[in-house]
Amino acid sequence: MVENQKMRQSRPLAVRTRGLGKTYPNGVAALADVSLDIARDEFVVVIGSSGAGKSTFLRCMNRLIQPTSGSLELFGEDVARVSGARLRGVRRKVGMIFQQFHLVRRLNVLENVLVGRLRFNAGPVSHGLSLLRVFPRAEREFAFECLRHVGIADLAFQRADQLSGGQQQRVAIARALAQEPEVFLADEPIASLDPHSAELVMQTLLRIHEHRRIPVIVNLHHIDFAQRFGKRAVGISKGRVVFDGGIADLTEDAIRHVYGEKLCEAYSAGPCDTSGETCVGELLPACA
Ligand SMILES: Nc1ncnc2c1ncn2[C@@H]1O[C@H](COP(=O)(O)OP(=O)(O)O)[C@@H](O)[C@H]1O
Ligand SMILES: [Mg+2]
Repeated sequence: MVENQKMRQSRPLAVRTRGLGKTYPNGVAALADVSLDIARDEFVVVIGSSGAGKSTFLRCMNRLIQPTSGSLELFGEDVARVSGARLRGVRRKVGMIFQQFHLVRRLNVLENVLVGRLRFNAGPVSHGLSLLRVFPRAEREFAFECLRHVGIADLAFQRADQLSGGQQQRVAIARALAQEPEVFLADEPIASLDPHSAELVMQTLLRIHEHRRIPVIVNLHHIDFAQRFGKRAVGISKGRVVFDGGIADLTEDAIRHVYGEKLCEAYSAGPCDTSGETCVGELLPACA
């Protein structure tokens, strides 16, 4: 692991945190003392049970959440402290997708992707005017290209609310790609999807990483997908990093250490039901 850290230090960094912490106004310490380096060529999965601090960590990166201690650099820029135009500059570098896809439901797929291009087309967009008419042809072609990249160009003129969950998530990925991000963050992107759609979405994220050569950080609580797609895993428990290593080092013991009493969440579709025997998915002895 020390060797990994040394190798990482010699590569250009995307993310560097030191003692990063977030305590919410209600006193919940969601993140405590997180120190991590993520290089520009990494595909990292962040694992941990619900409430571990995964979303808080990811949201600090584009300042959807303001950290309360420590430092966080994104491509060398101090994200915790920038404001105004420099903060907007940082946010532009980050493409982000969420468990709930956050599409504009009444717009079609292509229009949803064009939303990701709004910053490149600074003029005012009047209400009611179709986005397809506002954007020049080259922009529309670029949006199509993003849809092709995620394999759903044929759905370009369907309304977003007529798509399956997996298709909607791929539209969200295409919209984020249209921003031309330098880093891609995904917060439990497959948590609401069936296994086949989840597979397609993870393959899409991996392809983006490999073809566009940008770092990808994915929060997952599913160990199965983390093991199949991750190259490096960061395990968070109670706001602290308790595992950081190659995916091959993520042994059953390590998984137990990360998930603790919520071990069944690592293997199930949703939060652990500790009240009874209903842990969805594969049951481990610890869940029974
Ligand atoms: N806006 C908030 N205000 C107060 N507490 C929060 C807020 N968001 C998250 N938390 C708490 O912070 C902890 C970490 O949450 P979160 O980062 O969402 O974890 P995860 O994504 O791993 O499930 C949890 O205890 C959660 O209840
Ligand atoms: Mg979360």
